[in-house]
Amino acid sequence: MKAWLLDNMTGGVGGLRLADFPDPQPTAGEAVLSVTLAGLNPADRYLAEGQYPAKPEFPHILGRDGIGTVTAVGPDVTGLKIGDRRVIVRSEIGVNRRGTLAEKVAVPVESLVPVPPGWTDAQAAGATLVYLTAWQAITQWSDLPAEAVVLVSGASGGVGVAVTHVASAMGHTVIGLSRSREKSAVVLNQGATTCFDPADADWPRKLKAHLGSRRVDLVIDNVGGELFSQMIGVLGENGRVSCVGRLAGPVPQFNTATLFFRRLQIRGVGVYSYKPAESATIWPRITALLEAKRYRPLVDSTFDFEELPDAFARLEAGPMGKVLVRV
Ligand SMILES: NC(=O)c1ccc[n+]([C@@H]2O[C@H](COP(=O)([O-])OP(=O)(O)OC[C@H]3O[C@@H](n4cnc5c(N)ncnc54)[C@H](OP(=O)(O)O)[C@@H]3O)[C@@H](O)[C@H]2O)c1
Repeated sequence: MKAWLLDNMTGGVGGLRLADFPDPQPTAGEAVLSVTLAGLNPADRYLAEGQYPAKPEFPHILGRDGIGTVTAVGPDVTGLKIGDRRVIVRSEIGVNRRGTLAEKVAVPVESLVPVPPGWTDAQAAGATLVYLTAWQAITQWSDLPAEAVVLVSGASGGVGVAVTHVASAMGHTVIGLSRSREKSAVVLNQGATTCFDPADADWPRKLKAHLGSRRVDLVIDNVGGELFSQMIGVLGENGRVSCVGRLAGPVPQFNTATLFFRRLQIRGVGVYSYKPAESATIWPRITALLEAKRYRPLVDSTFDFEELPDAFARLEAGPMGKVLVRV
């Protein structure tokens, strides 16, 4: 098969090479998918740069998300047959096991789900990881008010759109941060009540004016950097921060005193911590929520397999939804 191969974790995604590689064979409990669409995630880049806690065998194949057709099943597999269409739910695929940036991938059947009814293959291909991340970022706070104000940075990205969908479908008020006016308009169509530009130094004041006597209950942060402390500043009493990503890099000069008086809490999000059985239980709850609002995952763009470097460049530039690769 053809696959994009990663030979080490020092060269970044620029070191990927398109080459022939032996087809995977399914062992017990596994199925092989002929991949039709793979979804990209910033963590693919982090892994290729040695910034992700993974120890894959080289050459490794990146790609955590994807959809394909079952072409072979392991000896003990039941309930799945050749020709079935399946989506990969977050697993070791593309992390410590070879991933979806290849014509074929072997996947434990416990990490395969059908395409949700009414969804296109493209909508499903890149959805599972970011929606499970959004779910954890919201539900890890058992004391979150039923109608909370949720502020999400990087609202136009894969996780940002997923947070906007899931949180608004749960009845929360979602406020987005996006550097782009065009993408903000799209985020507003996806359930956010308003969007602010984090490059506008006055956005915290505008947000407070917009909320009146209310304050932000939960920040879901995909960006980090200088924006982090600004977002801390708009939290109300007992406010919470779910740290998902840090696309803008480390947080400079963070003052822990900002946490004292409002009793603020900061907690990391690690979608990696979901076990396959847990993901399989949560995923139908997510799709049911989306269905109630007729929300569908957003696809930013789909690149040909040979155009993978362009697809990663698009992801780094800041997409509007998911970046996919046609395999
Ligand atoms: N902890 C976990 O389990 C977990 C799971 C999934 C993802 N993540 C991490 O979460 C982050 C977001 O993932 P994603 O899939 O949503 O990424 P994405 O699809 O690339 O979108 C991120 C969005 O953030 C904004 N952005 C990008 N670079 C920025 C910068 N330097 N400064 C300010 N804003 C920037 C862009 O929005 P605008 O252009 O509209 O501003 C972009 O659309 C990544 O760091 C990813 O690795 C973590």
